[in-house]
Amino acid sequence: MTSPWKGKNIVFGNWKMALDLNAAQTLATNILAGEAKVDSAKACLGVCPSSLHLSAIRELLSGSKGTLLGSQNAHWEESGAYTGENSWKQLKDFDCAFTLVGHSERRHGLFESHSLVSQRALGCLENGLAVVFCCGETLEERESGKMLEVLQEQFEPLLSSWNSDFSEMFIIAYEPVWAIGTGKVATLEEIQEAHRSLQELWKSKTSEECPPILYGGSVKPDNFAEILALDEVNGALVGGASLKADSFLALAEIASQ
Ligand code: PGA
Repeated sequence: MTSPWKGKNIVFGNWKMALDLNAAQTLATNILAGEAKVDSAKACLGVCPSSLHLSAIRELLSGSKGTLLGSQNAHWEESGAYTGENSWKQLKDFDCAFTLVGHSERRHGLFESHSLVSQRALGCLENGLAVVFCCGETLEERESGKMLEVLQEQFEPLLSSWNSDFSEMFIIAYEPVWAIGTGKVATLEEIQEAHRSLQELWKSKTSEECPPILYGGSVKPDNFAEILALDEVNGALVGGASLKADSFLALAEIASQ
């Protein structure tokens, strides 16, 4: 299977729990209306609405020339007694092309462990649902020189069960926790250092080429071009700036150049 983002710049919007149904539908409609400006040969777009809105947004995106539907999280089992969860199978039924796992708001806000996040990712990958695996350190961890150690710990349970069949279905999102939703974007040097460390970690553990790495954390139209110009960056996972069609499409246009 070849991924729809292969060789392209990726811009995925994470709508979190920010929008009601009406606002989510308006946003999707406006993204579709502006999509013509985006070169789909160069940029791959995706949006992750609330799971309650997947059906409505899927219907709107059926008219899209390529914007992918994604989930914000996924459970590793096909079905079962897991109150409040959505299985990879249920997400595939809604044509989700990928799911996020391990977003910092789940790791740090809801205490999801590295092994739980890895279990989510592996269950999806084993069943053909692509994964955007979020990782990143807190400010305290960075300031105490533990960035690399933390990234290694976050990947450890996943990489110990890695299978090369998963490669085309996997994307990494490096999101330093202190840059998410704070307006405090990491410097280009910090992004480069973290992405290079991830590439080295990947090669040393799997002997494979590293999958695409997105940067996330206060990405906006006015800082994205220079971030994307870094060789180590393959796109962005975007929160706040993905909630307005104008700014999301401006990011998409930068990714198209
Ligand atoms: P932000 O969020 O762009 O609002 O910083 C990024 C994210 O949560 O993925």
